[in-house]
Amino acid sequence: MFSLAGKVAVVTGAASGIGLATARRLAAAGATVVLSDINDAAGDAAAMGADFVAADVSDEDSVASLVASVVEAHGRLDVMVNNAGVLLTAKGIDSDATEDVRRMIDVNLFGVLFGMRHASRAMGPGGAIVNTASMAGIVGFPGLSTYGASKWGVVGLTRYAALEFGPLGIRVNCVCPTGVESPMTGDTPDHWAVRSQSLAHQHIDRLATVDDVAAAVHYLASDDAAMVNGHALWVDGGLGAGMSIEMIEAAIGGSIRDGNAIIE
Ligand SMILES: NC(=O)c1ccc[n+]([C@@H]2O[C@H](COP(=O)([O-])OP(=O)(O)OC[C@H]3O[C@@H](n4cnc5c(N)ncnc54)[C@H](O)[C@@H]3O)[C@@H](O)[C@H]2O)c1
Repeated sequence: MFSLAGKVAVVTGAASGIGLATARRLAAAGATVVLSDINDAAGDAAAMGADFVAADVSDEDSVASLVASVVEAHGRLDVMVNNAGVLLTAKGIDSDATEDVRRMIDVNLFGVLFGMRHASRAMGPGGAIVNTASMAGIVGFPGLSTYGASKWGVVGLTRYAALEFGPLGIRVNCVCPTGVESPMTGDTPDHWAVRSQSLAHQHIDRLATVDDVAAAVHYLASDDAAMVNGHALWVDGGLGAGMSIEMIEAAIGGSIRDGNAIIE
């Protein structure tokens, strides 16, 4: 089940967090994996019997070279996981963090665009592309408007890509994680905003792990997901489902149950 034997997979942003966990998971499922990152991950790659190719996903030539080198080394490309991303500011629209915003769009959105463009040219029928979006691309997180815009773009681009690449036999999906325990959600105030907002709205009382997300990517990359195309898979602990009674009561500081026939 969910075997990736015989498949060649690339994971971007694989030096850390979700990407590293995904690379490990795909390798354990039998794929020949190529880890890619702007930072060195050669040691991690070697430890799982994989290759490492450095690439900056915001640079189209770099992405084109990555894909070309994988096809040259392994003869094919079956799975492309466009996961590299950055969270550079948790300030809102009315801030002057414009360069941070540009970089987030360059890495998070153009990186996915370039990855899909060059992977799709190298893939044949049966190929699978999985992009890492975010629940910040599905619902609003105060402070994450510009990061969220980049991820909203990833969700949209994923759907459009399914239309464009479906006729080629290539599926395109994305995962939308809630806050994840990873270096991206460290100890700064920006990171704290992701953690606290996720935990406040989920119906599972913990942040997601990198392995929770890697499992979803694994499924979407596998032939078991052969009819799943253009889908945004929420790995969100119920964050997008709505508010529980307890959340509403905490917000209003009182009960909405006593004598309230509408809720009960
Ligand atoms: N951590 C979370 O709470 C969370 C939630 C939802 C979505 N995401 C998304 O998941 C993905 C992975 O995040 P993570 O939590 O593992 O973060 P992370 O910081 O641990 O890993 C991100 C990796 O991307 C790499 N990277 C950054 N810029 C790059 C570039 N230009 N080219 C190539 N590689 C680059 C980094 O070097 C790093 O290894 C990102 O797209 C992120 O936006 C994270």
